[in-house]
Amino acid sequence: MFVPIVTIDGPGGVGKGTLALKLSQKLGWHLLDSGAIYRAYAIFALSRQLDLENSDGLMKYTPDFQMETKPTEKGVEVFVCGENVTHQLRLELTGQSASIIAKHPDVREALFHYQRDCAVAPGLIADGRDMGTVVFPEAPLKIFLTASAEVRAERRYKELINAGESVSIFQILSEIQARDDRDQNRSVSPLVAAQDAIIIDTSDCTRDEVFNQVWQLVIDRNLIKA
Ligand code: DC
Repeated sequence: MFVPIVTIDGPGGVGKGTLALKLSQKLGWHLLDSGAIYRAYAIFALSRQLDLENSDGLMKYTPDFQMETKPTEKGVEVFVCGENVTHQLRLELTGQSASIIAKHPDVREALFHYQRDCAVAPGLIADGRDMGTVVFPEAPLKIFLTASAEVRAERRYKELINAGESVSIFQILSEIQARDDRDQNRSVSPLVAAQDAIIIDTSDCTRDEVFNQVWQLVIDRNLIKA
């Protein structure tokens, strides 16, 4: 059975998550946050004090990795091997660690089928780095969001300041650049736009403008009845 899929790829902090959530809600489709799977795996590895650079060491423990998600009123809660790790999921350490373990081909292979299994009716919005290139190359609509590292750092800085945190914009920029560098230059499934992806530079766009642009594409590709 044909399951329509929209892939949304791009670097960290570009607005993929917001766009993916809004699209999935408006369409009533499933949402795959593939970054959360890599983050959950990183939490698993950190909690066992595994060397994130050592693929063989990580693979020894992979059969023990179990991840569950539970939708609640406040959002989705994530459990790793039965433990609620929701509060750790968005930490910078978790994101950087996820980016390190995501370099290993064996780890990616182990998490691949988990992601493919999410393609179920009535449709899927898949958010990540390689959704359009590797995991769902057959997707009828592929979006690739971009924005300069400086713009993304400034957005993140404002978010954190508004949340009452005291942070340095230079620190945020250097973390964003380190993660971009690792995600773009790894040997397997690097962060790159699929050849048939629609590239949207969000630097000068509001969230609503980006959403409206993508919504029009959903209609133009006949993914839903207008
Ligand atoms: O999107 P995110 O920030 O939650 O992703 C965290 C890290 O996980 C990211 O820096 C690289 C890795 N990742 C990946 O390699 N492939 C994906 N499809 C999603 C995330």
